[in-house]
Amino acid sequence: MVTLDIMNGALGYHDLPWDRWDKEGAVFVEADASTDHLSNDVLSVVKHAKFINQDLPEVCLQGEKFFAENNAEAIRSGRVKFQPNDFFTEQPVKGLVEIC
Ligand SMILES: C[S@@+](CC[C@H](N)C(=O)[O-])C[C@H]1O[C@@H](n2cnc3c(N)ncnc32)[C@H](O)[C@@H]1O
Repeated sequence: MVTLDIMNGALGYHDLPWDRWDKEGAVFVEADASTDHLSNDVLSVVKHAKFINQDLPEVCLQGEKFFAENNAEAIRSGRVKFQPNDFFTEQPVKGLVEIC
Protein backbone atom coordinates (compact mmCIF):
# COMPACT_ATOMS: atom_id res chain seq x y z
CA MET A 1 0.00 0.00 0.00
CA VAL A 2 1.13 3.53 -0.76
CA THR A 3 -0.29 6.32 1.35
CA LEU A 4 -0.24 9.81 -0.05
CA ASP A 5 -0.96 12.98 1.81
CA ILE A 6 -1.92 15.45 -0.86
CA MET A 7 -3.71 17.78 1.50
CA ASN A 8 -0.43 19.18 2.84
CA GLY A 9 0.06 21.25 -0.27
CA ALA A 10 3.27 19.48 -1.32
CA LEU A 11 1.52 17.67 -4.14
CA GLY A 12 -1.48 18.36 -6.28
CA TYR A 13 -3.18 15.22 -7.48
CA HIS A 14 -2.54 16.14 -11.10
CA ASP A 15 1.18 15.79 -10.28
CA LEU A 16 0.87 12.13 -9.35
CA PRO A 17 1.94 9.31 -11.71
CA TRP A 18 -1.49 7.69 -11.98
CA ASP A 19 -0.47 5.58 -14.96
CA ARG A 20 2.21 3.85 -12.87
CA TRP A 21 -0.47 2.53 -10.49
CA ASP A 22 -3.13 1.91 -13.12
CA LYS A 23 -3.15 -1.87 -13.13
CA GLU A 24 -5.92 -4.43 -13.24
CA GLY A 25 -7.05 -4.94 -9.65
CA ALA A 26 -5.71 -1.64 -8.34
CA VAL A 27 -8.05 0.20 -6.01
CA PHE A 28 -7.64 3.81 -5.00
CA VAL A 29 -9.28 4.47 -1.66
CA GLU A 30 -9.91 8.09 -0.84
CA ALA A 31 -10.73 8.83 2.77
CA ASP A 32 -12.78 12.03 3.21
CA ALA A 33 -13.39 11.87 -0.51
CA SER A 34 -16.23 14.34 -0.70
CA THR A 35 -18.60 13.76 -3.62
CA ASP A 36 -16.62 13.51 -6.81
CA HIS A 37 -13.46 15.55 -7.23
CA LEU A 38 -10.65 13.09 -7.48
CA SER A 39 -12.31 10.00 -8.91
CA ASN A 40 -14.20 11.95 -11.54
CA ASP A 41 -11.07 13.78 -12.68
CA VAL A 42 -8.70 10.84 -12.57
CA LEU A 43 -11.10 8.48 -14.36
CA SER A 44 -10.16 10.29 -17.55
CA VAL A 45 -6.50 9.22 -17.25
CA VAL A 46 -6.69 5.74 -15.70
CA LYS A 47 -8.12 2.80 -17.59
CA HIS A 48 -8.14 -0.10 -15.11
CA ALA A 49 -8.07 1.05 -11.51
CA LYS A 50 -11.19 1.40 -9.43
CA PHE A 51 -12.05 4.03 -6.87
CA ILE A 52 -13.65 3.72 -3.48
CA ASN A 53 -14.73 7.05 -2.12
CA GLN A 54 -15.18 7.05 1.63
CA ASP A 55 -16.98 9.82 3.42
CA LEU A 56 -19.87 10.34 5.81
CA PRO A 57 -23.16 8.65 4.78
CA GLU A 58 -24.94 11.83 3.68
CA VAL A 59 -21.95 12.90 1.57
CA CYS A 60 -21.82 9.45 -0.07
CA LEU A 61 -25.47 9.87 -1.07
CA GLN A 62 -24.64 13.24 -2.63
CA GLY A 63 -21.70 11.63 -4.46
CA GLU A 64 -23.90 8.86 -5.84
CA LYS A 65 -26.35 11.51 -7.01
CA PHE A 66 -23.51 13.46 -8.68
CA PHE A 67 -22.37 10.38 -10.60
CA ALA A 68 -25.92 9.34 -11.49
CA GLU A 69 -26.35 12.71 -13.16
CA ASN A 70 -22.87 13.12 -14.63
CA ASN A 71 -21.17 9.77 -15.10
CA ALA A 72 -23.61 6.95 -14.39
CA GLU A 73 -21.42 4.46 -16.26
CA ALA A 74 -18.69 4.82 -13.64
CA ILE A 75 -21.07 3.51 -10.97
CA ARG A 76 -22.74 0.93 -13.22
CA SER A 77 -19.39 -0.55 -14.25
CA GLY A 78 -18.11 -0.66 -10.67
CA ARG A 79 -15.21 1.69 -11.39
CA VAL A 80 -16.46 4.10 -8.71
CA LYS A 81 -18.12 3.18 -5.43
CA PHE A 82 -19.11 5.21 -2.43
CA GLN A 83 -18.55 3.66 0.93
CA PRO A 84 -19.86 5.40 4.04
CA ASN A 85 -17.18 5.51 6.68
CA ASP A 86 -16.25 7.73 9.59
CA PHE A 87 -12.49 8.19 9.33
CA PHE A 88 -12.17 7.93 13.09
CA THR A 89 -13.12 4.28 12.75
CA GLU A 90 -11.35 1.36 11.06
CA GLN A 91 -11.57 1.61 7.29
CA PRO A 92 -13.75 -1.20 5.89
CA VAL A 93 -11.47 -1.52 2.89
CA LYS A 94 -7.98 -0.32 2.15
CA GLY A 95 -6.52 -0.04 -1.30
CA LEU A 96 -3.31 -0.17 -3.17
CA VAL A 97 -3.07 3.58 -3.05
CA GLU A 98 -4.68 5.36 -0.17
CA ILE A 99 -5.25 9.06 -0.59
CA CYS A 100 -5.93 11.35 2.31
C1 LIG B 1 -12.02 19.21 2.35
S1 LIG B 1 -13.17 17.92 2.03
C2 LIG B 1 -12.17 16.70 1.28
C3 LIG B 1 -12.09 16.88 -0.15
C4 LIG B 1 -11.40 15.82 -0.97
N1 LIG B 1 -10.55 14.91 -0.20
C5 LIG B 1 -10.58 16.51 -2.03
O1 LIG B 1 -9.35 16.44 -1.99
O2 LIG B 1 -11.18 17.14 -2.88
C6 LIG B 1 -13.37 17.20 3.62
C7 LIG B 1 -14.31 15.99 3.61
O3 LIG B 1 -14.16 15.33 4.84
C8 LIG B 1 -15.40 14.76 5.15
N2 LIG B 1 -15.44 14.39 6.56
C9 LIG B 1 -15.53 15.20 7.65
N3 LIG B 1 -15.55 14.49 8.79
C10 LIG B 1 -15.46 13.18 8.41
C11 LIG B 1 -15.41 11.94 9.13
N4 LIG B 1 -15.47 11.91 10.47
N5 LIG B 1 -15.31 10.80 8.43
C12 LIG B 1 -15.26 10.81 7.07
N6 LIG B 1 -15.29 11.95 6.32
C13 LIG B 1 -15.38 13.12 6.99
C14 LIG B 1 -16.39 15.84 4.79
O4 LIG B 1 -17.69 15.31 4.62
C15 LIG B 1 -15.76 16.37 3.50
O5 LIG B 1 -16.32 15.73 2.35
